Amino acid sequence: MSNRKYYLTTPIYYVNAAPHIGHAYTTIAAETIARLKRMQGYDVVLTSGTDEHGTKVERAAKAKGKTPKEYADIISADFQSTWKKLELQIDRFQRTTNENHARIVNELFERCLANGYIYKGTYTGLYAVVSEAFVNDAKPGDLDPETGKPYEEVTEENYFFKLSAFTERLLEYYEANPNFIRPDFRKNEVVAFVKQGLVDLSITRTSITWGIPVNHDPKHVFYVWFDALTTYMSAVDGEGRWPADLHLIGKEILRFHAVFWPAFLMAAGWELPKEVFAHGWLLFENDKMSKTRGNIVRPAPISETMGVDALRYFLLREIVFGQDGSFSFDALVGRYNSDLANGLGNLASRTLSMIQQYRGGVVPDAECDAAIGEAVTGGTAAALDAYEKFEFSRALEAIWNIISVVDKFIVERAPWKLAKDPHAQRKLDETLLTSAEALRVVTALVSPALPHAAQAIWRQLGFNEPVAALRTDALAWGSALAGQKIAEIKGVFPRLDLKPTVEKMQELEIVEKNRQAEMMGVPKTAEVAAAPVYIDIDDFTRVDLRVGQVKSAEPVKGADKLLHLKVDIGEAEPRTIVAGIALAYKPEQLIGRKVVIVANLAPRKLRGITSQGMIVAASLEGGAPVLAAFLEDVPVGARLK
Ligand code: MSP
Repeated sequence: MSNRKYYLTTPIYYVNAAPHIGHAYTTIAAETIARLKRMQGYDVVLTSGTDEHGTKVERAAKAKGKTPKEYADIISADFQSTWKKLELQIDRFQRTTNENHARIVNELFERCLANGYIYKGTYTGLYAVVSEAFVNDAKPGDLDPETGKPYEEVTEENYFFKLSAFTERLLEYYEANPNFIRPDFRKNEVVAFVKQGLVDLSITRTSITWGIPVNHDPKHVFYVWFDALTTYMSAVDGEGRWPADLHLIGKEILRFHAVFWPAFLMAAGWELPKEVFAHGWLLFENDKMSKTRGNIVRPAPISETMGVDALRYFLLREIVFGQDGSFSFDALVGRYNSDLANGLGNLASRTLSMIQQYRGGVVPDAECDAAIGEAVTGGTAAALDAYEKFEFSRALEAIWNIISVVDKFIVERAPWKLAKDPHAQRKLDETLLTSAEALRVVTALVSPALPHAAQAIWRQLGFNEPVAALRTDALAWGSALAGQKIAEIKGVFPRLDLKPTVEKMQELEIVEKNRQAEMMGVPKTAEVAAAPVYIDIDDFTRVDLRVGQVKSAEPVKGADKLLHLKVDIGEAEPRTIVAGIALAYKPEQLIGRKVVIVANLAPRKLRGITSQGMIVAASLEGGAPVLAAFLEDVPVGARLK
């Protein structure tokens, strides 16, 4: 094992949301870097984990009738199983509830205290009584949506970290270590923030119980970031791996990693991580993913439908790492077909089947084509350079350039013609060996990004050694394949039909969403009733309620509760709506009737029919639904607001 070590981390994810593709994005990118560094000969450790303390978790657990730890166990396990399903190799998974973690957080505290950077003070803030938490973004007089009354001002004793003492030292550090914060434009944001001057930070609470006790003063528990950031050390406790080489994070938590964390470490006299890289946000169809929008995408339905490398490829290829990027199911399947099925998959199957067909499955011995050799070598250097800078999209672009050069070479050489010409056998050998060699280099080169597909192609090329064991010297162009027997050929990226593939993923998304909702627990009805939840007018106007008229109504085969309706809501085409009202209404009772429709509900497939909205009805406990209606005549398409 090499003694050159490389230690990188993903953030530790909060257990108050279930894993989604935003979390997967960071974890996939980190795992790709881990593989790349292994290929470069480093002894690599990649850590991830869960951030489990705080009031939100305590409350969610209570609503589920569980202890906070029991609740955190469930969600933490879901993160771990998601990474398993995506076949991501996470070397250590650290939880803030692990015992060794509490010890290291206390050690950090005590060292900072001994060095004079921690003092006791009071913290005064607006406090939400139901949530039992300080609210950071409210002004005095603001109403607490949970009580309808103004927030209370509460003062409590806290320990403070003297962040203000680090303004100059941090600025000097950024200056002396230009690669500490990447990308550069983000570094400029951090520098500008620090230049405004830093204020001290409250790092403990007495008002919270679900946290790590401060040994020095046990009525306090550590407050979020002091606890969370320290997992980067406790995850590799006793392994001699600190400092980390890289913290990979999303841009919204850069300040904590590039300002708080180095200041804590400086105060303790511990070494700083070498680099913090903040990537951009993954959006869904250019919109922020959020629970209220109902547009959160989970990764498992994608990997189950398209294989684990499809999502990796899309995220790494489509988004310029560091910038925001957008995900959509259509774009995912589109990229898969054009680049994976037609590009890499096609090069592999075509090259291997020609060797099978014309040379009985043995790579012939010949000279490699020099021009292709140069193109592959140049493309390899470009890809490695881009990988090294974490410019994944550019790295993959360089690899796909190689693929298209080799494709063109095969078409020009037309081996299927050479095969018929007895005088062209040498040229055929040359063509087959060159294509196989190019495929070998491309497969090795793409393996950090697409490890599973690369392993499959590698095996088919006749190698027994796993592709993950390769070092960069394997990327050198040569003719080592001559005489090699290839293995059984299997397509790695079968073409997928857009519509059924997207529909399948969307259906699985609903199943997964329901499973997660069940796992997270919805607050019990009694508790909701005790604390009215207010929404603001914007929340309400986001719901597009419209008057519609039922044009047709039919039963749905095999579903005695459902009716298949066509409802005119004043658009060019009537909406298809599948409604669970068949036990209360006969189809003929509905035709011509005016109803209220939620027109902007995400389409959802029920019994093979895509429902494009929802019909509004009173829902009576144990009774039949009663459709909302108007006493006066109202025009079709009118909005309710
Ligand atoms: N617990 C803190 C981090 C503590 S690290 C010491 C936290 N957790 S989180 O669950 O909110 O995860 C945030 C991280 O998840 C982001 O920084 C990013 O890595 C990833 N992402 C979550 N949603 C994302 C997107 N929509 N897009 C890109 N990354 C996102 O913050």
